[in-house]
Amino acid sequence: MKLPLQKIPANKKIIFSTWIPAFAGMTVRELPSTNYKLLSTTLPTTLAIQKIIPEAAGIKTFVFKSDLEFAAGQFVMVWLPRVDEKPIGIWRKKAGEFCLSISAVGKFSCAMHQLKVGDKVGIRGAFGRGFTLPVGKKKIALIGGGFGVAPLLSILSQAKGCAADVIIGARSKNLVFGKKHAEALGGKVLIATNDGSCGEKCFNTELFERMLLKKKYDFVYSCGPELMMQRVAEICKQKKIPCEISMERYMKCGIGVCGSCAVDDSGFCVCSHGPTIEGNLALKMVEFGKYHRDSVGERKNF
Ligand SMILES: Cc1cc2nc3c(=O)[nH]c(=O)nc-3n(C[C@H](O)[C@H](O)[C@H](O)COP(=O)(O)OP(=O)(O)OC[C@H]3O[C@@H](n4cnc5c(N)ncnc54)[C@H](O)[C@@H]3O)c2cc1C
Ligand code: FES
Repeated sequence: MKLPLQKIPANKKIIFSTWIPAFAGMTVRELPSTNYKLLSTTLPTTLAIQKIIPEAAGIKTFVFKSDLEFAAGQFVMVWLPRVDEKPIGIWRKKAGEFCLSISAVGKFSCAMHQLKVGDKVGIRGAFGRGFTLPVGKKKIALIGGGFGVAPLLSILSQAKGCAADVIIGARSKNLVFGKKHAEALGGKVLIATNDGSCGEKCFNTELFERMLLKKKYDFVYSCGPELMMQRVAEICKQKKIPCEISMERYMKCGIGVCGSCAVDDSGFCVCSHGPTIEGNLALKMVEFGKYHRDSVGERKNF
């Protein structure tokens, strides 16, 4: 099959170049900077932990000194020798450092939580496509759950001049992550908890729907549990609001080589074509909101 060529300005760096037949018509997106400072993408760079911030039950933020540049929504591969290497979203509180907020759920993440200030980890990246940031002073909604709030914090620091509502969801008050950081970065925070122990007693997607009754948004971004993002994408499709989400799939190489993060039935590799994707495109994928695959490729239902 002869593939159509897409015209790309010569001075732009393109990180999405593969043609995916199922996604004909998908727009090519660009990195915002042409002079990106990356850490090595093949061998990990060793960095010492500068600071550890306990955030919520089971979530800690690890701060590293580095001039690494990245787009909101990109991730790094974090290597713990003799444990594992995993993708983690990046965000920044101030220049000259970057933050990784990690939820302790398994072998790698619990080992990260055992580390102390001064301990070293290996980091490659940054990888993936970042979110498309709004141009100009726009009204945006950022809808996040768990550590998924972290890449949304990056949007707050990079989308200067936008009025942002940050709608955070958690099961309970002790699991709410990101409120302080989002407020410090200029976001207006609304919280929804399942048990009503903090903010409204509902899902954050319901809170978002209530906000839509009184407010218009130019762009919506979401990161967190897939069923939450699926609902956000459905609402935005119905209301015709542009929306991008950030997908999570099991990754091995992080650079589009091994295929372990490919999503049925699109050929979309989350590590290199994503992790960010337009909500309407995600809704077309057969596995979106239904299942993902584990380290050996076995289906796991959500
Ligand atoms: C693009 C991308 C960005 C990511 N960013 C972050 C981030 O910023 N912070 C972060 O903590 N993780 C992030 N992850 C997830 C991370 O890569 C690991 O999957 C996670 O740390 C679990 O690894 P583990 O070895 O500790 O647990 P595993 O051994 O892989 O899993 C242990 C158990 O926990 C379950 N589990 C795995 N992940 C979750 C979860 N998120 N919530 C509930 N249960 C889970 C598994 O199904 C399994 O039953 C990201 C993943 C991707 C693809
Ligand atoms: S992790 Fe290897 S292709 Fe995405």
